[in-house]
Amino acid sequence: MSNNSAEVDWDALTAAARRAMEHAYVPYSKYPVGAAALTEDGRVVSGCNVENASYGLTLCAECSLVSQLQMTGGGRLVAFSCVDGDGNILMPCGRCRQLLYEFRAPDMQLLTVSGIKTMHEVLPDAFGPEHLSR
Ligand code: THU
Repeated sequence: MSNNSAEVDWDALTAAARRAMEHAYVPYSKYPVGAAALTEDGRVVSGCNVENASYGLTLCAECSLVSQLQMTGGGRLVAFSCVDGDGNILMPCGRCRQLLYEFRAPDMQLLTVSGIKTMHEVLPDAFGPEHLSR
């Protein structure tokens, strides 16, 4: 899969998100989510949601995706896709937009319910690591 965001194979990336969704642990919400992202160096990382009896400790699919990113060599995300249990495109929740922002490539794009958007479009005026170095 290309790592040039202009040539992202969105169908393949979304298929990877759907495969990840099949691993979701969702005994409480019964709402599986899968996410997949393409890295700058051409890897595909993915994740599923993992719930907890405490409810509040639930890990969103994006949490396991960024963990896999770090565990498989780190780097930056250039493209992202997320699906619900029916395989339909799902917008990442607000907290997860922040998680993704931390690891974005400058031109990161997300496949959303309203088309392909930039990270800036889905999290405008974001707080980020750059604020801490002022
Ligand atoms: N969920 C995600 O995994 N990612 C999101 O961006 C939205 C919500 C999960 C958390 C919980 O397991 C289930 O969806 C219902 O909220």
